[in-house]
Amino acid sequence: LITAGAVAAFGLTAWSGVATAADSHTIKFGNVISAGDTQNQGYELFAEQVAEGTDGRITVEVYPDGQLGGEREMIEATQFGDIEMTAPSVGVLANFDKSLEVFDFPFIFEDADTAHEVLDSELGDEMLAGLADSGLIALGWGENGFRNLAMTDGTVRVPEDMEGIKLRTMQVPMHIAYWESIGAAPTPISFPEVFTSLQQGVVDGVENPYELLYSARLTEPANYLTETRHIYDPEVLLINKDFYESLSEEDQEVIQSAADAAIDKIRSLKKTVSDEIRAEIEAEGGTVTDLTEEERQAWIDSAVPFYADNASEVDTEKLKAILE
Ligand code: PAF
Repeated sequence: LITAGAVAAFGLTAWSGVATAADSHTIKFGNVISAGDTQNQGYELFAEQVAEGTDGRITVEVYPDGQLGGEREMIEATQFGDIEMTAPSVGVLANFDKSLEVFDFPFIFEDADTAHEVLDSELGDEMLAGLADSGLIALGWGENGFRNLAMTDGTVRVPEDMEGIKLRTMQVPMHIAYWESIGAAPTPISFPEVFTSLQQGVVDGVENPYELLYSARLTEPANYLTETRHIYDPEVLLINKDFYESLSEEDQEVIQSAADAAIDKIRSLKKTVSDEIRAEIEAEGGTVTDLTEEERQAWIDSAVPFYADNASEVDTEKLKAILE
C-alpha cells in the first residue's frame, strides 16, 4: 500500500423542549442506490427507528434508485432544504468540502476494518463536523465499499491495460487525475446514466463496488471484472442543518442513534455481500479476475506519480495521518 513515507519522499509538508404533535415532520431521504441493496436496508432500519423513537411524529420516506436525482443534485437539495437527507459517496461530497478529498486517493486502505478505524477516529469526526460550514450535519460514515473495475470488452490486469480506455468515473477530481495519470480517459457521468452509456459505447468501463455494479445491472454490458480494490469508498449520511437544529434535543438523539444503527447494519452486511454478489456475477457468465501479488503491486506503484503530483493539493498532514 501507499505509505506516509512515499508521500514524505516527495518533500510534502506537508433546542430542547417538550415534544408535541406540532413537532411532526417528514424527512425525505433520497439516494441513488438500488432498493434492497445493503445501504437501503440500513436506511429502512433508520426510518423504522426514527418512527418508533418519536412515536410516529417523524416519518422518514426513503427514495432509492436516483428517483430524486443524482448524488450531486441531492447534496444541493439537502443543503437548500428541498429534501432533508441524502447519503452520497465521499468522493462526490468532496466537491462541497475539499478537506474530504484525502479519501479520494487510491490504495489508502487495505481492508474495511482499517478504514473504519480511521473514519471512526477523532480525525474522521473532525471531518464530518466540518460539513456544518456547508449547511449539512453529517450523521456518520456509511459504506459503499471497495471499488473494482468492470469493462465491456476484455479483462484488465495491469495499469498499462487502461491506456486509452474510456472509463466512467464519478465527478471526483482526484479520481479523474489518477486515471489520467495512468493513461486512461476518465469520463464523469452521473450514476443513473451509466447503464445507457455503457450500452451505447460512450464508455468502455466503469468502476464501483460489486454490489452497486450488479444491482444497477452494469455487469450486463460490463461483464469483465477485475478485483482491483483501488479505492475504499465511504458514504456520508447527511441531514439539512437548519432542519436538524430546529428539532428538539430528544428528537436529534433519536435521529443520531437511528443513523448509528443503520451504519452498523450497513457495515455488517457489507462484510459478506461483495463475495456473494461476485459469485452471482460469475454464475451469470461474468468473468471476475483476481490480481496476482505482482499485478496488485503494479497498481499500487502506478499511483506513486499521482501522489507526487496531487498530495500537496489536499491537507497533506491529514493524508499522512491516515496513511500512518
Ligand atoms: O459510482 C457512483 O456514482 C457511486 O459509487 C454511487 C454508486 C452513486 C454510490 O455513491
